Amino acid sequence: MAINRPRGTNDFLPEDTAKWQAVEELLRGMCRSYGFQEIRTPIFEDTDLFCRGVGATTDIVTKEMYTFEDHGGRSVTLRPENTASACRAFLENKLYGLVQPTKLYYIGPMFRYEKPQAGRFRQFHQFGLEIFGTSAPAADAEIIAFAWDLYQRLGIQGLVLKLNSVGCPKCRAAYRKALQDYFHPHLETLCGSCRDRFERNPLRILDCKSEICQGIGADAPKIQDYLCEDCAGHFEKVQNLLHAAEIPFVIDPHMVRGLDYYTKTAFEIQAGAIGAQSAVCGGGRYDGLIQEIGGDPTPGVGFALGIERIFAALQAQGDDIEVSQDLNVYILVAGGVEASAAAFRLADQLRRAELSVEMDYADKSFKAQMKAANRLGAAMAVIIGDDEVKSGCATVKDMESGEQCSLPFTEIKQYILER
Ligand code: HAM
Repeated sequence: MAINRPRGTNDFLPEDTAKWQAVEELLRGMCRSYGFQEIRTPIFEDTDLFCRGVGATTDIVTKEMYTFEDHGGRSVTLRPENTASACRAFLENKLYGLVQPTKLYYIGPMFRYEKPQAGRFRQFHQFGLEIFGTSAPAADAEIIAFAWDLYQRLGIQGLVLKLNSVGCPKCRAAYRKALQDYFHPHLETLCGSCRDRFERNPLRILDCKSEICQGIGADAPKIQDYLCEDCAGHFEKVQNLLHAAEIPFVIDPHMVRGLDYYTKTAFEIQAGAIGAQSAVCGGGRYDGLIQEIGGDPTPGVGFALGIERIFAALQAQGDDIEVSQDLNVYILVAGGVEASAAAFRLADQLRRAELSVEMDYADKSFKAQMKAANRLGAAMAVIIGDDEVKSGCATVKDMESGEQCSLPFTEIKQYILER
C-alpha cells in the first residue's frame, strides 16, 4: 500500500516553492529595512519550555503538542510556536549582553495537533519577529507597522487590524474577578471548555468560538475599564503611534489571544475572505515571559504570521505571487559526440557566469529540442552541430525576435551577458 503524507501536512512542489521563496525574500528584505536579524532555533525543545512559556492551561499545551520521550527518556516537543524558543535562545546565548534592544526574526515550520481544515494545518510555517529589552510603546507599534506594511506590499485587501490591551498581572487580577462575577450566573449555560476556563483562565471564555458563549460574553466587562495607569498610558501611546503612521485599527476589548504570555498590547490582523481561520497574524507584548523561563525581568514584544495564510488570502481575491523562472539559455545539440561535448563545455561556462542554462541529454530531435526551449521560456538558444564544432562557431538565436547570428564559441558568453 502506498504511504501518504501525514494528515494536516503539505508537500510543496517546485511551482509552490518558487512562490514561497519570493515571499521569504520579501520578508528578509523587509527585515533588513526594519533592522531585524535572523535566529534559527531547534525544531524540538524541552517540553517544559512550552509548558512554562506558552502556558499550562492553553489549548496549545493541553491538546496540541507533539510531545514524545526520546531514547534518553527526556520529554521533548516539536515547537508549536517560536517565541518561547527565541526567549530561551536569548537567555542561553546571553544576547542581553549586547546592545539592546535585540531584534530577531525567524521563518520555519511549527507543529500543532489541531483538527486540519482550510488554513489550519498540523505542520505550518510561521514568519515572526521578536524585540527583547525595551518596554517602549514604539516597539509595539513597529511590530504592528511591519505586519501592516507586509500585507500592503502583497496587495492583500480587506484586512482588519484588531487591537487590545490585556493589561499586566497587577490589573488583570481585578479584571479576572470581574469576569468571574459576570460569568458565574451563566456557568451552567457555558460550554464544557468554558466551564473549565472559568476557574483557570476566565479571559479565555471571551475567545470561545461557541455561539452561546459568545452571546453570553457580549456584555462582559471590558478590560479597558480595569487597566492600571501604566497599562492605560502604554495603550494610548501605541494607538497614537499607529495613528501617526496612518495604520487603521479597531479596538476589540474582547480579543484575548490563545497564548498565556501576553501583557499590555495584543493584536491580530484578520482577513475575512479566507474563512473561519481568518487570522493572518497575531502578536503582542510579553513582559513576563523571559522571567517565567528563568531570566531576569526583560520586556518583549513580537508577532508571527502563517505563511500558508498569505497564499490563502491572495487566492481568495484571485491573485497569486508572480515568479519568473524563465531560462536564459537553451543549448540545442544537432550533431555527434563532439557537438555534445562542446555543448556541455559551453553550458558549464555559462552557468559559471550565473546564467541559467538547460540542454538536451536525450538525443532528442532538433524540433523537440526547439519545443523544449520554448516551453522553458528560454531567452536565447544556442545551436551546436558538427559543422559548428568544425568552424569553432555556433548559432545564437534570440527566441523573442527570432534574430540569429553565428559567433565564435569564445564570444558567446559575453554576447549573451550583454543581451
Ligand atoms: P499564534 O496566533 O498562535 O501566535 O500564531 C500566529 C499565526 O500563525 C496565526 O495568526 C496564523 O496565521 C498562523 N497559524 C497558527 N496556527 C496555525 C495552523 N495550525 N495552521 C496554519 N497557520 C497557523 C503565535 O504563535 C505567537 N508566537 C506569536 C507571537 C510572536 N507573539 C509574540 N511574538
